[in-house]
Amino acid sequence: MLTQDELKNLVGQAALQYVVPGEIVGVGTGSTVNKFIDALASMRDQIKGAVSSSVASTERLLALGIPVFDANEVGELSVYIDGADEIDHQGNMIKGGGAALTREKIVAAQSRRFVCIADESKLVPTLGKFPLPVEAIPMATQRLVRQFAALGGVAKVRMKGGEPLVTDNGQHILDVTGLQIRDPLAFESEVNQWPGVVTVGVFAHQRAQICLLGTASGVKTLTF
Ligand code: 5RP
Repeated sequence: MLTQDELKNLVGQAALQYVVPGEIVGVGTGSTVNKFIDALASMRDQIKGAVSSSVASTERLLALGIPVFDANEVGELSVYIDGADEIDHQGNMIKGGGAALTREKIVAAQSRRFVCIADESKLVPTLGKFPLPVEAIPMATQRLVRQFAALGGVAKVRMKGGEPLVTDNGQHILDVTGLQIRDPLAFESEVNQWPGVVTVGVFAHQRAQICLLGTASGVKTLTF
């Protein structure tokens, strides 16, 4: 029986086949992506570099000698590789467990193809069991708590060291439990236009086209 860490290693390695030599790759954030970044070091001399979705991933890429480009310096990317907190059978995801959702969505939108890497515990029939992260402007959070309550959700400000966690963009995160997201596309469009929401952690407009799923019997490739 493989551990979760070993499954993450497997999919991190498997994602290398989607990296296009000579190009810049979009890189997500999280413990699964960290395995991918470590594997990417073996291709360091074959790629131009990466566009990163967080300060943490940027630091890891640079430490391994992989150049990091600003998203504004480059055009469309051929591929974006990132993890997920949940993924359904259509490639819709919940992301933001690592608080990097806004930059992740920006780099995903800049990429032709989203390759999700995840262990099989992340595959769900309906999104919503994992608390939905929402990046929000601090002055709006209590109003947003009430808006989510009207949908049957319980939203809490994510804390770190007794203070609200501050994202790479200087904003706060709400984690929302009690939702069942049956129409991810409509839900994302709706919540994204609530005043004070920077980004909702539903990735339906930027869903995955491929998922490399780490399973007990090896890496399974799902295409959507
Ligand atoms: C970070 C994310 C991550 O992709 C997500 O939380 C999965 O992380 P991990 O690979 O550590 O399980 O969205 O904002």
